Amino acid sequence: MRVLITAGPTREYLDDVRFITNASSGQMGYALALAAQAAGWDVVLVSGPVSLEPPRGVELHKVISALEMYETVMELVDGVQGVIGAAAVADYRPKFRHEGKIRRSADPLVVELVPNPDILAEVGRRKRADQWIVGFALEPSLADLEAPRRKLQTKNCDALCINPSSVLDEAWTEVYLMDRSGELRSRWKGPKLNVAAEIVGWIVENLARSNTA
Ligand code: CTP
Repeated sequence: MRVLITAGPTREYLDDVRFITNASSGQMGYALALAAQAAGWDVVLVSGPVSLEPPRGVELHKVISALEMYETVMELVDGVQGVIGAAAVADYRPKFRHEGKIRRSADPLVVELVPNPDILAEVGRRKRADQWIVGFALEPSLADLEAPRRKLQTKNCDALCINPSSVLDEAWTEVYLMDRSGELRSRWKGPKLNVAAEIVGWIVENLARSNTA
């Protein structure tokens, strides 16, 4: 089984020294890479900028921006049986990247942002019958499951790991697993390394077996 895992944040540059990003540290994606290796899988890790050591033996592809992550994933996705989208991809990027440095001025600075492509949704569109996809969803509340259900469908995922925004950049996490039916099936709370092992265990039981050639 060869799997592709996306991890970390992306950076969207305004000029040569400034960028828009988010609080993702990449810990969840890297923990999943370790857990996937422990399950005996070959891991292709597409990572945004993080300060983590990649697990030994993974095929690491470093990217900076969402567009780079998109292009890299599209080049690699045909060669894998499973995809886990753990990256916190920036939804928008500045329309223009200034060359050099934007100089300080007394006037307000207006930045126009344009949408980035939805990487996982495109993976979902290209999905083959022998592939599975597990997405992540950062949700402020679990009171309304409509938003994660919509994500599950739009991105054609077999399962969605729903977590609260408070877990970004933390060593622990809380994950609710929604399966294809749109129902919550499991809840895990603890260090990201442990939760990653639980998620991979669930995939082995529920997705990977039937898809393994
Ligand atoms: N994702 C992606 N490409 C994007 C945005 C998100 O591949 N441009 C993936 C993430 O890696 C994650 C899933 O889609 O697996 C859901 O990400 P999330 O930020 O929770 O949702 P969004 O689709 O961005 O929707 P919203 O920001 O409205 O909650």
